[in-house]
Amino acid sequence: MIPVFIASPWLAPGCFATRVGAFGAISIARRFAACCAFDFNLGARYTTAVYDCLSMTMPTSVVGHESDEELQARVLRGPLPRHVAIIMDGNGRWASARHLPRVAGHREGIKSVRETVTACRELGIAGLTIYAFSAENWRRPAFEVRELMMLLELYLQRELNTLLEKDIRFRTIGRIERLPATVVDWIRRVERETEGGREMTLTLALSYSGRSEIVDAARRMAEDARSGVLDPSAIDEDVLSRYLDTRDFEDPDLVIRTSGECRISNFLLWQIAYAELYFTKTLWPDFRRRDLLTALLDYQRRERRFGRTGEQLQGSPG
Ligand code: FPP
Repeated sequence: MIPVFIASPWLAPGCFATRVGAFGAISIARRFAACCAFDFNLGARYTTAVYDCLSMTMPTSVVGHESDEELQARVLRGPLPRHVAIIMDGNGRWASARHLPRVAGHREGIKSVRETVTACRELGIAGLTIYAFSAENWRRPAFEVRELMMLLELYLQRELNTLLEKDIRFRTIGRIERLPATVVDWIRRVERETEGGREMTLTLALSYSGRSEIVDAARRMAEDARSGVLDPSAIDEDVLSRYLDTRDFEDPDLVIRTSGECRISNFLLWQIAYAELYFTKTLWPDFRRRDLLTALLDYQRRERRFGRTGEQLQGSPG
């Protein structure tokens, strides 16, 4: 008990001062009380409380006991992100908890992908980007990589018609050429056939690394500068953005990561400069429409200032 309590960032002096400045004493007291719930031996709930302090999100208080339909209606009354990016995580842990092989978690995770795509489309979210396979994931055991590639191919084969019916454009980012040829063929086919999709763009990040993407962009800019196509003095943020894989996308407004890990793992490093981050303990195979709605409600409580003051946003000079 004690080590966890001491590890709470709310007790670290530097952090405490920053938090006070950011949220005010009442908010701190509430969160501190949530951490203290641990001491009353509330079992598993303490982890949620401590986690909520760390992530600064309180999903349970946002959602209450409403049905999914009520939650969805509430979400639709607020501002929606135009582009949601998701780091799926926790498939292996989901499987281990059930004494199943890791790939069972990936298989179940596809159900979550389907439900999330459907829900985003119904809500009118214009862009959904899913981190399906990172450049670093090539280091996984060969068997797992093979299974993931097979699942990806199956997903593309099975979902093509649904994507067409729902008017969803499919795209990929990352070093696709490293994937097996049959998967690349399916990717190209689904990209081609859904090119006219207007209601939503679904992007899969595959063999993707945010740093490599920036390095590739820098290399292409250098080549264009050398050949006289690009004036080096004209390079600014907009120019660099146009050299990234995501050149046609708006930046994500919201990044969701499942499984309780609070990191970005080399995902869209340039593009998420101003994204809202939402971390949930839910493991990806358990992530359902309700979890997405919860994340969206949390997003709607945020004040996106983009460097301005809160007063400026309210219309007064501050
Ligand atoms: C992270 O969980 C998940 C992945 C690296 C792969 C996700 C892939 C799929 C769901 C299937 C194919 C994708 C699509 C879009 C069809 P983890 O394995 O790192 O879990 P752990 O951290 O608990 O080990």
